[in-house]
Amino acid sequence: MIRFNQFDDFLSREDYHGRILHGPFSRPLKDRLLACLKHFHSLDRLGSPIIPYIAAWQDGVPGLWHEFTGRRLLNLLGCEPMSAAACLRDSLVVSCVYREAEPQGRVIKEVTPRQALRLSQRELREQVRRNGALEAIYQLVAAEARTIWLKDQATVEVFPDDGICLSLGSLICVSNEMRAEEALLNDHSTLRQHRVETDRRLKDTESELRHAQREIIARLAKATEFRDQTTGAHITKMSHYCATIGQAIGVKPELNELLFHAAPMHDVGKIGIADSILKKPGRLTPEEFKAMQMHTHIGAELLSGHQSQLLKVAKHIALTHHERWDGTGYPRGLKQREIPLPGRIAALCDVFDALTSPRPYKEAWPFERAVREIWRGKGRHFDPRLVDAFVKNLPAIRQIFNRQMPLSA
Ligand SMILES: [Fe+2]
Ligand SMILES: [Fe+2]
Repeated sequence: MIRFNQFDDFLSREDYHGRILHGPFSRPLKDRLLACLKHFHSLDRLGSPIIPYIAAWQDGVPGLWHEFTGRRLLNLLGCEPMSAAACLRDSLVVSCVYREAEPQGRVIKEVTPRQALRLSQRELREQVRRNGALEAIYQLVAAEARTIWLKDQATVEVFPDDGICLSLGSLICVSNEMRAEEALLNDHSTLRQHRVETDRRLKDTESELRHAQREIIARLAKATEFRDQTTGAHITKMSHYCATIGQAIGVKPELNELLFHAAPMHDVGKIGIADSILKKPGRLTPEEFKAMQMHTHIGAELLSGHQSQLLKVAKHIALTHHERWDGTGYPRGLKQREIPLPGRIAALCDVFDALTSPRPYKEAWPFERAVREIWRGKGRHFDPRLVDAFVKNLPAIRQIFNRQMPLSA
């Protein structure tokens, strides 16, 4: 039976590797340490999975030392009791501290690598001294290069007269738990990467689709040019006029972009109109005019049946760009706000550009004359609000009018 109630008994023991019992320290400190040593020895000999230790440090003195080291820790580190503290420090790879953070109930993990830990040792000691406790998890490279995780829980007692702090702690191996946590983190990280990659691919695909849609629309508009007597410049300028008016009346940028790209499709239905009508040099008979009006329906038919926003706007424009504000237009005689906004905008811009463009049967009208004609159509042919926006933005309209042809949309 080992007796611990005498200093001498303990000092004679070979496994005491501390400094305090031998040093010039106060009786209360030595008594307290001796009592703790007794309990920690007993705990160690029980074969408990908990590894008890007593660390100590002195104010103003760098480094710390162990007053007691559980045997299991010595085995893990493969070192002698005297060098346990240094060996533990040298084996340390990272230290993790879990602490509660706002919002309440959330726990964050602070990971400090070995180098940073050494640099902040003084602050750490101050923190532990203030809290009176320490709770951390260490990753160590133990004997035979084995990576292990130890959870450290300690209470800290301060002896101001001696300038000594005692850390009465226990270590427990949590390698399996931490490996599981690492695996989980890796899984999360892989999932995150996967998601980023998927999002990127999705964006690429969306961009390709958008590009393909615009390309198809541009080619369809080009096909219309071959049938009709219009030019690429008409189609391109009309797009720009539409976008200018759209912006002036506060159409959202993404919608205005759709308007810009959909406008060239307004006459796509002319693909289905007979050459004898489409290319007739003289006036159309009432029957021929009726057949000509069908280009709105044919265009809408061509562009319908798809969920794409671009094609939906294009369909509205194709169907309603010959409707008039006062209800005298075609094909359905819609009036005022019954006519979708893109159709109303396209109607105004189509007429303005047709007036200012040369045709086989007419000269191009001068800018001012065409503007007067649009103004005359305010509230009859055209939405008055759009005519106002058109007139207010004449400098921008004139800039498009003056651009060299052909333009590309
Ligand atoms: Fe038309
Ligand atoms: Fe047109």
